[in-house]
Amino acid sequence: MTNIFLDTANLEEIEQIKRWEIIKGVTTNQKIFLKEKGCNFEKQAKAILEAVQPLPVSLEGPNDYEGIIKAAKEYNIWEDTDGKRFRNMVVKVPMLGNGDGLKAVKTLSNDFIKTNVTACMTLNQAFLAANAGATYVSLFYNRIKDWRLKANSNNNEKQAAIEALLTISETMKMLEEGEFRTKLIVGSIRKVTDIEEILTAQPDIITIPTKILKEMVKNEMTESTLKDFENAWEEFKKYEK
Ligand code: E4P
Repeated sequence: MTNIFLDTANLEEIEQIKRWEIIKGVTTNQKIFLKEKGCNFEKQAKAILEAVQPLPVSLEGPNDYEGIIKAAKEYNIWEDTDGKRFRNMVVKVPMLGNGDGLKAVKTLSNDFIKTNVTACMTLNQAFLAANAGATYVSLFYNRIKDWRLKANSNNNEKQAAIEALLTISETMKMLEEGEFRTKLIVGSIRKVTDIEEILTAQPDIITIPTKILKEMVKNEMTESTLKDFENAWEEFKKYEK
């Protein structure tokens, strides 16, 4: 089963979509927080954690080992309005080229702090994150496609999508067959059709921006069908005995 996370740091969006009762978590990153510019990070992050608890919320950390550990330990002692420590906090740990992200995952898991290894583009990176004991590993669909397009000048959009989907399905296979506890999140969603493509690879989770989720609900033929039925019902009611 593929679960849905919401990719946003906007509280109004979270409250709105929470009412649909389909989301199983929230992910954020620095670019997502930039959309909320002017807010206080700690205040906003705590409000998101509180709004969705017990569902997991991924919060970004800095890009160096010491910084990640410091931020994670700080987030980890944050408390909700009842004075209880948030149990749904997940720290995003960047997949750093020097291996320090993996070391950070290991250190944090010793302290029972959940991690989401972010910005992964390959099966190998996901495999390393799983071995480090990450709670989640995030593969970025459209960024993998961009990279595959750049890496091979013979590649077109379609071929890049095939390669990105293969990375996702093979990562899922590796996690399942290796009996890792790490769950796969697929992010970097740009259009509604991305979801249908990604679902063919059956990841554990897709993290979806609110705008895309709202577009997914709608279909013009559904709208006109419902109108059609509504008119028929009104007609039926007119003659009802
Ligand atoms: C997922 O966890 C990331 O926050 C996000 O999906 C990245 O998306 P982008 O590639 O559009 O920045």
